Amino acid sequence: MLRESLAARAAAAAMILSAAIFIPVTPASAATWGADYFPNSTLTTQDGKTVRFYDDLLKDKRVVINFIYTKCGDSCPLETARLAQVQRILGDRMGREIFFYSISIDPVKDSPAELKSYSQKFHAGPGWLFLTGKKADIEVIRKKLGQAARADENQLTDHSTSLMIGNVATGQWVRDSSLDNPQYIAVIIRDWLSDWKDGGPRGKSFAEAPPTPAYLSDKGAYLFQTRCAACHTIGQGDSVGPDLLGVTKNRKRDWLASFIALPNMMLAKKDPIATALFARYNQLPMPNLRLNDVDVNALLGYLEAHDAASHGQAKAEGPAER
Ligand code: HEC
Repeated sequence: MLRESLAARAAAAAMILSAAIFIPVTPASAATWGADYFPNSTLTTQDGKTVRFYDDLLKDKRVVINFIYTKCGDSCPLETARLAQVQRILGDRMGREIFFYSISIDPVKDSPAELKSYSQKFHAGPGWLFLTGKKADIEVIRKKLGQAARADENQLTDHSTSLMIGNVATGQWVRDSSLDNPQYIAVIIRDWLSDWKDGGPRGKSFAEAPPTPAYLSDKGAYLFQTRCAACHTIGQGDSVGPDLLGVTKNRKRDWLASFIALPNMMLAKKDPIATALFARYNQLPMPNLRLNDVDVNALLGYLEAHDAASHGQAKAEGPAER
């Protein structure tokens, strides 16, 4: 799952952030990934509508595609929350110029109704479809997009966490990490992939890309931005998950360390705070992001620094401390 090391992820993010490396994945053998390349299989949306993969979803569009399953307890909720951030940045371009497709890799269990309820938890808006279909058809799509699991991997739990970002009209595709900064993902889909037919993106040079954010040099801040910020703010109110301002004052450190590392286990063993939080936050479980002790400590240090700086503005909300 999150199988690459943090260092590799950081390096990958830094490469994208420095905007120097831009890897089009169009295969050398084909001029473009077009109608001849993609299947036109039938899929079903979260609203029960039948659509054709190429004709209805891809043709002439700019798209972001990822693969998820609703029962996934680790990386998929983070990917989906990241796309929700990108959706907010793209605003009304969503559903007009730009479309997101989250395709279930567990289509037998993920009925349209399951996908609908999942999409609502992340406030998916117009232009973002959650799709299910025949397992064999989805496998072909996954393979064509270079997202199939390797033969030695679990086809569900080892699925790739990449986003495929494409301008189907020009045949340009880019693979990006779903851990990347949402602003950059939005820039890639909105600006860089907008105009390739006419000699490259206009009016935007790499030099105009925003400066490399400071969080890349601080482990706790980096982990927070890449793994947590899609669902949590610190002091800006609840998002998919609770606002974390004050959390290090309201809860014991051991509890926080266990919860951040193994939220699924805490819920499974019916920890009262975890159970109350789950009920309160839309029954969307906090994902297990496979963090090690060093990561968890860095994150706690980062949260504690915020709480120390906030001079007791901690909100007294949420299930009471035990
Ligand atoms: C996909 C969304 C998502 C991501 C990503 C995520 N969380 Fe959460 N988090 C939640 C939800 C939802 C809850 C509420 C509990 C529940 O529903 O299980 C929560 C609860 C929490 C709590 C308990 C808050 C309290 O009031 O006690 C902490 C602490 C927390 N998350 C920290 C983190 C940290 C640190 C990260 C990054 C490593 C992270 N979360 C990543 C969704 C997320």
